[in-house]
Amino acid sequence: MSYKSKIVSTGKYLPEGVITNFDLEKLVDTNDEWIVSRTGINTRRKALESVLDMAYNASMDAIKKAEYDKDKIDLIIVATITNEIKSPSIANLLQAKLGLNDKQVMAFDVNAACTGFVYALEVATSLLQSWKFKSALVVGSEKMTNIVDFTDRNTCILFGDGAGSMIVEPGDIDSVFYNDSKGDNTKILEVDKYVKMNGPRVYQFAVDIIPKTINKILRDNNLTLDDIDVIIPHQANKRIVESIIKEMNLSDDKVILNIDRYGNTSAASIPITIAEYKEENKDLKTILIVGFGGGFTWGAAILKI
Ligand code: UT7
Repeated sequence: MSYKSKIVSTGKYLPEGVITNFDLEKLVDTNDEWIVSRTGINTRRKALESVLDMAYNASMDAIKKAEYDKDKIDLIIVATITNEIKSPSIANLLQAKLGLNDKQVMAFDVNAACTGFVYALEVATSLLQSWKFKSALVVGSEKMTNIVDFTDRNTCILFGDGAGSMIVEPGDIDSVFYNDSKGDNTKILEVDKYVKMNGPRVYQFAVDIIPKTINKILRDNNLTLDDIDVIIPHQANKRIVESIIKEMNLSDDKVILNIDRYGNTSAASIPITIAEYKEENKDLKTILIVGFGGGFTWGAAILKI
């Protein structure tokens, strides 16, 4: 089933602090050559700001780009796994920070790990379809450096901080979604105090599930790769993306990558990449976003931005 809506604006925020591979060489037994060749990451960002501050900055970027009347926003959904406190949600705090406390707003967070933004966008888009809401602000904001153990070389090289946002209204443009999950109790990928991960097992999961997810959403909607301008995948590892490019016989420029600069920003990676792509490509494009993450969760959407 397709939803009718309209993406009005996209935004992003990357904190100024940078962690280079050479910085990590001083913390754990690793080196720049290993990190670049195994992951494609050169730098990632480290925030002094909170998850809320980054969510706010990314939201304001989208609001300013469209000169949007923020008082119209009546639905706020934030995808995050790094909220510093359990409650209120980042979405509630964002409502207050945006000055929307006097408005009737439904605000809540979504936890679907790195797939969080795709999940949150489907929830928002389906709620907009009811025409009960006028305007949804959907955000992915993560402070991964708060939950990374900087003595664990398996994980600390991968993750970074940032936020991305999207404003969506009811409209007449079709978007389609496929979101899925499988409850996993094997502890291959979990966050207790810190992210713990069996990297090779997660890698195998990713290279298996991403092509299947892309093929399913295309097949279910009678579309082919020729109908898609670009694929924006969750930025987890450059090698994962390269393996998908090879398996699916894609041209390199069909897939957007920025992992070299930002690392894996979990639920923020897809909206950051969308916002960056949109800054360079002003005319309407058909994009396929695809994510996977802890849970396990995975999902895709085909959108016009
Ligand atoms: O958002 C979803 C969350 N996570 C992911 O998507 C992660 C998916 N997995 C990965 O990206 C990769 O598995 C990693 C980048 C985490 C690891 O790369 P890998 O090619 O799978 O390496 P490996 O874990 O199989 O380790 C290969 C070798 C090992 O040494 P030995 O046993 O061959 O001597 C590791 O001990 O590399 C060693 N190693 C490192 N060496 C230098 C592991 N981490 C490092 C490191 N620096 N940081």
